[in-house]
Amino acid sequence: MRTICIINNKGGVGKTTTAINLAAGLSRHDRRVLLIDLDPQSSIDTSLKVRAQSSIHDAMLGKVPIQQCITNLGTNLDVVTSSESLNHAEQYLAQPETPDLALKRILDQVGGYDYVIVDCPPSHGLIAHNVMAYCREAFIPTSTDYLGHEALRRMQRLIAAFNTDYDRDLRITRIIPTMYDRRNRICRDTLADVQNDHPELTSYPIRINSKLKEAPKAGKSIFSYARSSYGAKDYLQLVEEVISMEQSSSGGNDQEATVTA
Ligand SMILES: Nc1ncnc2c1ncn2[C@@H]1O[C@H](COP(=O)(O)OP(=O)(O)OP(=O)(O)O)[C@@H](O)[C@H]1O
Ligand SMILES: [Mg+2]
Repeated sequence: MRTICIINNKGGVGKTTTAINLAAGLSRHDRRVLLIDLDPQSSIDTSLKVRAQSSIHDAMLGKVPIQQCITNLGTNLDVVTSSESLNHAEQYLAQPETPDLALKRILDQVGGYDYVIVDCPPSHGLIAHNVMAYCREAFIPTSTDYLGHEALRRMQRLIAAFNTDYDRDLRITRIIPTMYDRRNRICRDTLADVQNDHPELTSYPIRINSKLKEAPKAGKSIFSYARSSYGAKDYLQLVEEVISMEQSSSGGNDQEATVTA
């Protein structure tokens, strides 16, 4: 089972869009996928119009078992939603002796999936640490502009520090350039710089596409909403790329192209 967090402290870089469409695309390729929202903004809930009885926060508070927080969205695709109350989880997480492992203890009870994909909030608090302690792989959506590139460098440093401080081995296995508009020089330059720095890790860019903005209003993934759009084509390419990594990343345990600093 591959456990992948979609993570970047920078807001609005396409984390949620990537988490949703990667999960939806993988499920269409016969992979059993659990999509988990760990952002108190609950964007996955809103974007896919999920009607869940309980959120991940309820499981973290011990109110319900994690299995009761899982909602089926279609063939091969389940989701665990977040809630605004997760904003208060930092307080709760700060209590136990190993605050970074609270989520892992809960999610380790979940099995039977090929992929668990976790959407992270744009911040680097205890919630993010908990996600990082659970997942073996990190995908970093990176907006193709100067600040986006800087945010990528910051995330690499944070993940390296996290691995050292907590004695973990979270691996950056994909950098996903987003919001790409090849008419803009800064997009072309940033993409070239990122590809240059990380030739093995950098995915094909996800182009700016208005259908990706519209799909959440319809409560659909890009594949259901506009299957012939650029957005669908780009995310399909990412899905195929992620599937092609399966051999080398079985469980995320063995050697593959990664960066830790
Ligand atoms: N490739 C794209 N083209 C056009 N719009 C996009 C693209 N990717 C994402 N968007 C839109 O940009 C906005 C931000 O995207 P998204 O919510 O996925 O970012 P995020 O990193 O999850 O944000 P946050 O940090 O707030 O959680 C949304 O309105 C989304 O629909
Ligand atoms: Mg988001």
